[in-house]
Amino acid sequence: MLAEMARSRHIYDYPLYYEIGFCCNDVRREVDFLLRCYQRHRGGCSPASVLDNGCGTGVYLEEFARRGLDVCGYDLRAAMVNYARKRLSGIADHAELLQADMREFKVANAYDMAICMNGSFQYLLTPEDMVQHLRAVYRAMREGGLYLVGLPAPEELMSNPPGSIRSGWTRERDGIEVQVDWTYRQHPIDWRAQTFSGLAKIRVCDRSKTLSLELPYRYRVFFPQELEALACLSGCFRVMSVYGDFHLGRVYGRMQSPKLMLVLLQKTMS
Ligand SMILES: C[S@@+](CC[C@H](N)C(=O)[O-])C[C@H]1O[C@@H](n2cnc3c(N)ncnc32)[C@H](O)[C@@H]1O
Repeated sequence: MLAEMARSRHIYDYPLYYEIGFCCNDVRREVDFLLRCYQRHRGGCSPASVLDNGCGTGVYLEEFARRGLDVCGYDLRAAMVNYARKRLSGIADHAELLQADMREFKVANAYDMAICMNGSFQYLLTPEDMVQHLRAVYRAMREGGLYLVGLPAPEELMSNPPGSIRSGWTRERDGIEVQVDWTYRQHPIDWRAQTFSGLAKIRVCDRSKTLSLELPYRYRVFFPQELEALACLSGCFRVMSVYGDFHLGRVYGRMQSPKLMLVLLQKTMS
């Protein structure tokens, strides 16, 4: 297993480098916004607990835990889960953290609020994947709980389709430099499958060490009406609101980050 990890070139197996290169959000402002959404749609109540689906390095979990919420997160990648666990030690030692798939995870407790940020949801490639995921989230949430999903706005993908722009950036933290060539390889959107794929190349200079890493991806394009229909079909959630410009000033290289939408789903009564 360790030998396999050592050979891996996937950036998700290097959570620290992933975080330096890709996490440029103002997490505090985003969490303020997420909590305000919850209060607004739940009669002024605040959530006591939150579940992060596809939690990555656990940046959101840390911010929620620091605000006193019970937190739970899971991710497909063991390296991400281990990293998130270390991040939370001493802050939320009883946090539930596990390696699991969004389509079939099970957690021990039930949560007031759930989130899925920065495109983890885009890994649900088919309508079946999405319905399976919503059913699993349903089982992990309290009655009336809210699920907030951040996704690229589809109009962004239509006005700047993959392959039409070049994008890359360099970030640095504690002497580690991460250069991302995001558009190294991009294939056009497959409109039949509603997915697009590509490969980003990442070069890391960590003091005396240099690594060439990759992020191969295939993502689904989601439309608000489709989300509403699938949520309804799942029998588990209904879409309460779609905030069409969830954009808190992130900058990727010289380019503003793509426009995001925040979809707010409420667990239906059983
Ligand atoms: C772009 S990162 C975002 C991470 C985190 N949500 C954030 O905002 O920092 C996507 C994450 O989704 C995870 N992921 C991809 N497919 C998954 C699946 N089927 N189940 C659970 N996690 C998955 C990846 O391992 C990765 O950590």
